[in-house]
Amino acid sequence: MSLSPPLSSDPAPDPALVSLLAFWADAGVDTTYSEQPINRLEAGRRRLEAPAQVAAAVVRGEPALVLSPVGGGVGPATATAIARDQARAANTLDELAAAIAAFELCPLRSMGARQSVFARGRPDAPVMIIGEGPGADEDVQGLPFVGKAGKLLDRMLAAAGLSEAVFITNTVFWRPPGNRTPTAEEQAICAPFVARAIELVDPRLLVLVGGAAAKSMLGRPEGILSLRGRWTDWTGEDGHPRPVLPTLHPAFLLRQPAAKKHAWADLLSVAARLERDRGSP
Ligand code: URA
Repeated sequence: MSLSPPLSSDPAPDPALVSLLAFWADAGVDTTYSEQPINRLEAGRRRLEAPAQVAAAVVRGEPALVLSPVGGGVGPATATAIARDQARAANTLDELAAAIAAFELCPLRSMGARQSVFARGRPDAPVMIIGEGPGADEDVQGLPFVGKAGKLLDRMLAAAGLSEAVFITNTVFWRPPGNRTPTAEEQAICAPFVARAIELVDPRLLVLVGGAAAKSMLGRPEGILSLRGRWTDWTGEDGHPRPVLPTLHPAFLLRQPAAKKHAWADLLSVAARLERDRGSP
């Protein structure tokens, strides 16, 4: 972890403090707590409860920034509708990334995330990988799956010959505080952006990494251990069904190395299906 350099107008930081913070950062501490609890969920909720007229203004095409001065937001259904509107207006992945970065209505945005984390990989990839949400490393670098779990994912993709075949994103675009699982509401608000990314990349296959991604995309009650390895379809607003395979999350594999054989079998199934479908329209 690196500490951000001070802004030029800041007074010079106390070297003892910098050294102490570096010590804690090296020890893996990436969050500080005050003595009094802060209910960050409440801050997100307040954002969602601000006046609906603000949302109406955005729907009328007024800039989304109108939301920040009033600190405000709207109910989750309206936030999702606005997300859908803004996602649909994006005609390229760059426009979609910009729309996500400007989107103010996901409660995760006000819970300590440094920046939005959208995607990496080939913009016309035949395989789209959808994970749960950014963690600490992703929050710093602004790219998905760049921490320990991401490195394992990359090694597995390379071994399966899929490194150059993937576009990687998540169900939410801001780091949930303390790396908790994103809520269904947070995922629902981000879902129109995920769906638009799928339309723009137009992959042949989708891979859902981990239970939270599988639950959000498939809306199925089963756990990932029973969903994994079984192909099903995902159909977006464009009405185009795409084969989708849920698999295990690499963070889970780091904790349970014995499960790697299942994830490996899933990746081989993806590679085989891609090969089989190659050449078909
Ligand atoms: N875990 C995820 O699900 N996504 C990331 O981007 C990183 C870790």
